[in-house]
Amino acid sequence: PPLDHGARFAPPLDETQLKAIGMLPDEIVAFQNQRKMYINKDKILDEEIRNPERSKLVDYHTLHVVSPIDHANASRLLNKLAIIKLNGGLGTRMGCKGAKSSIEIAPGINFLDMAVAHIEQMNQDYNVDVPLILMNSFKTEVQTKKMVEKYNNHRVSIKTFTQSKFPRMYKDTLNVVPKPNTQFNPKDWYPPGSGDVFRALQRSGLLEKLLKDGKEYIYISNIENVGATIDIRKSKEKRKKKKKKKKKKYIFTLLFNLNCLEVLNHIHLQKVDFGLEVTNRINTDCTGGVLMSYKDRLHLLELSQIKTDKLKNFKDFKFWNTNNIWVNLKSVDQLLKSEQLILDWVVSFPTEDHKQLVQIESPAGMGIQNFNNSLAILVPRDRYRPIKSTSQLLIAQSNLFQFDKGQVVLNPARETSDIPLVKLGEEFSTVSEYEKRFKSIPDLLELDHLTVSGDVFFGTNTKLKGTVIIVANHGERVDIPDGVTLENKIISGTLRI
Ligand code: UTP
Repeated sequence: PPLDHGARFAPPLDETQLKAIGMLPDEIVAFQNQRKMYINKDKILDEEIRNPERSKLVDYHTLHVVSPIDHANASRLLNKLAIIKLNGGLGTRMGCKGAKSSIEIAPGINFLDMAVAHIEQMNQDYNVDVPLILMNSFKTEVQTKKMVEKYNNHRVSIKTFTQSKFPRMYKDTLNVVPKPNTQFNPKDWYPPGSGDVFRALQRSGLLEKLLKDGKEYIYISNIENVGATIDIRKSKEKRKKKKKKKKKKYIFTLLFNLNCLEVLNHIHLQKVDFGLEVTNRINTDCTGGVLMSYKDRLHLLELSQIKTDKLKNFKDFKFWNTNNIWVNLKSVDQLLKSEQLILDWVVSFPTEDHKQLVQIESPAGMGIQNFNNSLAILVPRDRYRPIKSTSQLLIAQSNLFQFDKGQVVLNPARETSDIPLVKLGEEFSTVSEYEKRFKSIPDLLELDHLTVSGDVFFGTNTKLKGTVIIVANHGERVDIPDGVTLENKIISGTLRI
């Protein structure tokens, strides 16, 4: 967006003021850099942005041919890996006040439990020590430190570090809130996006420690993406199945050469510095970023960077960012030390207390343009199962999925691998309203499409099949009774079975 006249000529901020409000020296440098870039950066010209050619991407399904691996090497490679989960968010979109990672996706299982279970299983199966590292923000730090205590006796070492906090600025002058000599209100801090992960990891001392411990790669993903796992499951499952058919020897070697640690092995063999998993975009993907090619380099373009009237120009940009990222630790270290890891940014304009504010954030995926040997990997949709809305939460909590040692598996009883389209109306938008409105989670095994709008309540043990549309008009309330099956039904007003 064009800057206000005043902001165009905004001078650098006074460092003593930034120190006085509690910023650390490296936060001040990063903040000033980002602010300077915001002021000076030339706009990327729309006409120079291209949809990347398919040949620029590596297909996940071909990796087993390009980079096969056996069990011993898999263990060796896993010992070089650390996993970082981005845990700075509160799930504001779902009305949550606590860390998003504490939301339950199955009875008694939250996002953090899922991550721990997955890594613990891997550590046992491969006799390795892959640590789980949580990046908190100042919003999630205290709660998360308490939450991790219960895993003390688990076979996974959990570490945490806290990302930076930046002060919001006034939109017209780009001065930090508040004006000099008035008290700084902690409400005006914000965590500056997932791209902060690299610098914050370095500041915490963990980057150095990981390198000392022989770790070479990190896999970064959003804690709420339950599809962001290390691909070890399929090989074991297939092995078991085939074994029954008594084709033991042949299948055993073949399958350990297939579908196992494909991405990590590829990153290792091809000496990739930065690997971004992207997936084919579908109609419901609307907040997030797409892969693009700009001046012949891969970039990430966040849709929030584009003015609404231009958005239609990007509907053909089909490679959707999953925010699952593989990075070489040494390359991160080198780029940081040589001050070359300066990520692109997105702006948002929170309007709180009638103040016209601006905050600048960097998504981690934007690193794709900073690293030398960057790569985009086209992965199947099942590696991208984010839960950012209660509609997605309903799908996850339903019998469409089963949870198996930290992995989400589609219920084999479902006849198709398509995930139903679920659209819950505004009344369901917060987790607390959603919980009030479903006495129990309906059976969705045979559902294709569900739309719910208005003041609707579901009883216990309901079943929804085919296409179901339920609309409560303004001032009306629809109660779906206990035990009811709705199949290809449109319900509007009062329910008649
Ligand atoms: P999002 O921006 O999608 O989600 O971050 P959020 O902030 O958690 O959710 P809402 O908007 O409040 O509902 C994607 C991922 O990046 C992490 C979040 O925790 C989430 O896992 N994240 C985001 C950070 O760790 N730090 C940040 O500064 C921003």
